[in-house]
Amino acid sequence: MSYLEPGSGRPRGTLHQSVYDEVILGIQSGEWKRYEKLPSVRAMAERMQVNRLTVHKAYQRLAEEGIVQARYKSGYYVSSEPAPRPGSRFLDDPPWEYQAKPVRAPRSRLFEIHRKKVAYKMSEALIDPALLPNAFLSGHVKEVFDLHPKVLSTYSSVSGDEELREEMSRYFTEKYGLSLSADELLVTTGSQQAIDLISRSLVQAGDRVLIERPTYSPAIDVFLRQNVRLLPVEITPEGYDLDRIEYLMRTEKPQLFYMNPTFQNPTGYTVPASQRKQLLELAERYKCILVEDDVYRDIYFEDPPPPPLFYYDTEGYAIYICSFSKFVAPGLRISLLAARPALMDSIIAVKALADNGTPLLTQKIFQHYFFSARLQEHVAKLRIALELRKARMERILAGTGFRWASPGGGLNLWINLPEEVPVDLLLERCLEQSVAFVPGEICDPLGEMKSWIRLSYSYISEAEMEEGLRRLIAIAEEMKGGITFPRTDLN
Ligand SMILES: Cc1ncc(COP(=O)(O)O)c(C=O)c1O
Repeated sequence: MSYLEPGSGRPRGTLHQSVYDEVILGIQSGEWKRYEKLPSVRAMAERMQVNRLTVHKAYQRLAEEGIVQARYKSGYYVSSEPAPRPGSRFLDDPPWEYQAKPVRAPRSRLFEIHRKKVAYKMSEALIDPALLPNAFLSGHVKEVFDLHPKVLSTYSSVSGDEELREEMSRYFTEKYGLSLSADELLVTTGSQQAIDLISRSLVQAGDRVLIERPTYSPAIDVFLRQNVRLLPVEITPEGYDLDRIEYLMRTEKPQLFYMNPTFQNPTGYTVPASQRKQLLELAERYKCILVEDDVYRDIYFEDPPPPPLFYYDTEGYAIYICSFSKFVAPGLRISLLAARPALMDSIIAVKALADNGTPLLTQKIFQHYFFSARLQEHVAKLRIALELRKARMERILAGTGFRWASPGGGLNLWINLPEEVPVDLLLERCLEQSVAFVPGEICDPLGEMKSWIRLSYSYISEAEMEEGLRRLIAIAEEMKGGITFPRTDLN
C-alpha cells in the first residue's frame, strides 16, 4: 500500500492541466519510475474523475514535451530522461496559481488526530501540565533574563548555544558514559525536527530505511516524504529479531535504521542491552547508520533502562536523539542530537537551512532549569505520578478483553482489541463522544495492525481518564456485544 496522499484538492486551472500535474508529481514522487507504464487513459480518467479525452490531451502534451513516450497499441511510458526537477516546470511555465500548489507529500496522520478538539484526549503522548512545576519554571524564566540581559538581542549559533552543549556533553558523559564533545552535539527544536533533519540530510529517494513496526507515526510520514523504501522490523517485549535485521542489512543495504528502543512509542517495549551491542556490530559490518530516538528514557517505573546505543559505538554509526520535551518543559521544545563529525556536518548544513539555529532564549531557560536540583527532584516524583496513572488505566481496562503488555516506562499502553471491535469505527464513534486515541494502523509502516490502539495515560487527569475510558469501553462493548462494563469503584 502507498502512504502518499493525493494532493489536497484539484489544482486550479484546466482539467487537462490537472491530469498533467498529477503525472508530473507522480514521476517526481517516484510513483511512476523511468520506463514504467502510466495508468491507461481509462484508469487515469477514473482516478481523476475526468473524461477520457481530457486524459488523452494531457498525455499527448506530456509526450510532446518528452516527459512520456507513446507506444503504439501499448500506452504511455515514462521516458528515459530524468524526471523534471520539482518546481522547474513552474518557473518555465507560470501561471502563478500553480506555484502555490501543495507538493504531493504525506501529511502527519497523528497531527490529523491531535487537531480534533475533544475533551478526553488519550491520543496525546504528553504529560499533564498539572504534573509539571509551572510556578518554579516561571520564576526561573525571570532569572534567565537577569543572568543574560542580551539573550533576546542575538542569535544562537546554528549548532546551539556553546555553553549548553558543553554542559550537556558533560551530562551525557557522566550519566551514560558517552564520550562526546560539545561539537558533536546539535540543539534541535524538539526531536521531531531532529528526525526531519536526518531524513533530509542522510537519505535520498530510493534509499532503504529500516524502521520499527509499530513505530512513532510521524517518523513514517517524514521518511516517506523523502520517497525512501521502508523496511519494517518487528519490535516485541524481547526486542528485535536480529537475524532478520542482519538479513535485511545484508540484502537490502539500508542507509539507516530509525528506532526508539527505550520505552518505545507506541508499545512501551525496551530493547535489551545485549541486543544494543550486537546492533552496533551489525551496523558497522553493513555500514548502516543507527538513529536512536530517545524520548522516554527518564520516565521509568522500576529499573532504569540500558545505556543508549551510542554508548557501544566505536566507528561513528550511531546517532543519538535525546528529547527533553516531555518531562522538562514541553513548551521549550529542546532536544539534543549527538553524531560524530562526518554525519554531523551534513545534518548541521540542513539545520542552517531549516531555521539557522534554535532560539537562544529557550536554550538558556532549558539550561538553567534542567540543571537545577528542583527539576531533578521533580522527575523522581513525576515517575511515581505517571506510574499511578498507568496503574489506574490498567485497572479500568482489566476485564474488558483488551490485551497489552504492561510497560516499564513511557506514556502509553499499546492495546490489542478483541477481533469484533473495528478500530476505524471505534475511533469514529469515540470522536463523536469527544474521546480520542491513536489507531494502531497509523503506527504501522505496512498500514496494517488494524486491531491495535495506543492509549496515553499521561496527559489527561484521572477523572478525565475514567470518563474517557468509560465512553470508549461502552462503545466497544456495544460493538462486541458483551464486554464487561468497567467498574466505577476503582481507586
Ligand atoms: C518517539 C518520539 N520521537 C519524537 C517525538 C517528538 O518529540 P519532540 O516533542 O521532542 O519533538 C515523540 C513525541 O511524541 C516521540 O514519541
